[in-house]
Amino acid sequence: MALLPIIETPDPRLKAISAPVEKVDDDLRVFIADMFETMYDAPGIGLAAIQVGLAKRVLVIDLQDKDEETGETIKDPRVFINPEILEESEELSVYSEGCLSVPEQYADVARPAVIKAKWLDADGKEHVEQIDGLLATCLQHEMDHLNGILFIDRLSKLKRDIVLKKLAKARKMAA
Ligand code: NI
Repeated sequence: MALLPIIETPDPRLKAISAPVEKVDDDLRVFIADMFETMYDAPGIGLAAIQVGLAKRVLVIDLQDKDEETGETIKDPRVFINPEILEESEELSVYSEGCLSVPEQYADVARPAVIKAKWLDADGKEHVEQIDGLLATCLQHEMDHLNGILFIDRLSKLKRDIVLKKLAKARKMAA
């Protein structure tokens, strides 16, 4: 397994429209394992392939809930290949989103609260499920990456500019 470098805004590759995966094979599964390792190391709860430079419709998510009694992290790795949204609720849910490609910056984004989605897992098996809560938000955020959209693109220009200014400042201080 290997850690992959994460691409950050304003790298133009993040604007790419990712292509569908034609074959779910061992090469892809190795890449997916590397994506999980990279995401856990970052750390983050979701990662799209384009964020590590591969313009394919693959994303990984692990919300890493904490067990309320023991405080231990419950791992729940999920792989979404060629995901599609079939239905979405009119009801929206607002969540303060962040992104490994826009490091340490957060802003409220409203998205459909409940979605029905279809995807393939790492064995190439098709799933159709209704999803809500943080997983629905996260899946929509990651699916945006497959279409070249960052969460900051869903903000007003004013709010986006504020986030980008804060990011520039943080990078300057880290340099
Ligand atoms: Ni992201």
